[in-house]
Amino acid sequence: MRLSPKHFQTIAKMLDFYSQFNPSPLSIKKFIDFGLNASEKKSFVFLRKELPVRLANIMKEIALLPENLLRMPSVIAVNDWYMRSFQEIMEFEKKDPNDQILEHFCNELVKIRNRHSDVVETMAQGVLELKESHDVDHHTEHSIQYFLDRFYMSRISIRMLINQHIHLFPALLFGGQVENVPGPNRSKYIGCIDTQCDVVGVIRDAFENARFLCDQYYLASPDLIVDVARHPDFESDQDINIVYVPSHLYHILFELFKNSMRAVMEYHGSVDQYPPLTVTVAKGKEDICLKMSDRGGGIPRSTTDHLFKYMYSTAPQPSKSDAHTVPLAGYGYGLPISRLYARYFHGDLVLMSCEGHGTDAVVYMKALSNEANELLPIFNKTTSKFYRTIVQTGDWSNQATNIGDRQMSTRLKNHQLPHSCQESISEAI
Ligand SMILES: Nc1ncnc2c1ncn2[C@@H]1O[C@H](COP(=O)(O)OP(=O)(O)O)[C@@H](O)[C@H]1O
Ligand SMILES: [Mg+2]
Repeated sequence: MRLSPKHFQTIAKMLDFYSQFNPSPLSIKKFIDFGLNASEKKSFVFLRKELPVRLANIMKEIALLPENLLRMPSVIAVNDWYMRSFQEIMEFEKKDPNDQILEHFCNELVKIRNRHSDVVETMAQGVLELKESHDVDHHTEHSIQYFLDRFYMSRISIRMLINQHIHLFPALLFGGQVENVPGPNRSKYIGCIDTQCDVVGVIRDAFENARFLCDQYYLASPDLIVDVARHPDFESDQDINIVYVPSHLYHILFELFKNSMRAVMEYHGSVDQYPPLTVTVAKGKEDICLKMSDRGGGIPRSTTDHLFKYMYSTAPQPSKSDAHTVPLAGYGYGLPISRLYARYFHGDLVLMSCEGHGTDAVVYMKALSNEANELLPIFNKTTSKFYRTIVQTGDWSNQATNIGDRQMSTRLKNHQLPHSCQESISEAI
């Protein structure tokens, strides 16, 4: 998109204006109340301010990235998409929400969502372009990691808002098919939120799909054992249901299963029986926890600091000739993106490992939908300072992390993200 200098100035002013506001985090409960009670007009009025606020907050941060990263072709492309989408939403700033405008708004949201569907891998590609053409120092590496966490989290949140609107008010778009009408006939879905998400069902789905990839690659796979535990105050014969976005939970579990399966298969080589993966589902009063345990040999403590770094992987790089298939591992995006999904509604993802034995990955989710608030990056002076401050010199005798960083960047040489890896990276986002 070519912008005239005048046009560019107008957008820059609007970005300045909207980035002054903090995003308004919504809880799952608020999403549901809104879905049940709010009109399309109300949603329109909310989004035409909230979307530009969230976009402007993160666009301000893109602008603070190191100059040479901003010049990478993939980063230029991502920046363009954001500019274009911001501008398109601005068109509605002063519009009267009549039926025609509401329909147009909904169509524009679909267009924006589609435009941004490849953002994760395109930005990742931009970082690779930088690493292949420049020496990246420790501070830049650190800023990129900080930025990507915030950037991808912002994207998850913007897509959540857009998806809710598109799903809740599809009447005009899909010819009158209304799924989420209030009243006795309403479905258990409110937009993309399942009000009775069957946790064990999602675990089994994710397991089966990861197992399919594992069987393809290793011609065998471990079994699954699901173990359910509850706080004594809860009835023991009921399924464990949670109010959640099932696609987010699925994404996390699919990534964890792939990792555990790979670890088990690599560690045990060719044997008749592989030790099963165990998932313990625990329902407490405050949290719902899923603990996935494998006996895949674990992770040495010296590398645990790197697990959540983008592009850290010990798997061979998937070959370009396999570009149309979904690989089991190799892009190093599984854990960091899964942790963002978990944290998005104030949950978490933690890994604990015993080298020589296996790994436990624990997914925490808020049990109460009013506590499951969005966690959103906010652009302010502290953020800007972060990008400008040079990392302090170490004040411990051993700065062990440098060792791993060096290994990581060597492995990154010629690391490419073919278009197809996106299924594992971005489908659910
Ligand atoms: N359960 C596990 N057991 C052993 N190593 C693991 C496990 N989970 C993750 N890892 C290590 O963490 C790395 C990063 O995982 P991830 O972010 O999913 O990227 P990828 O799977 O593409 O390598 C893996 O390459 C592997 O070395
Ligand atoms: Mg993985």
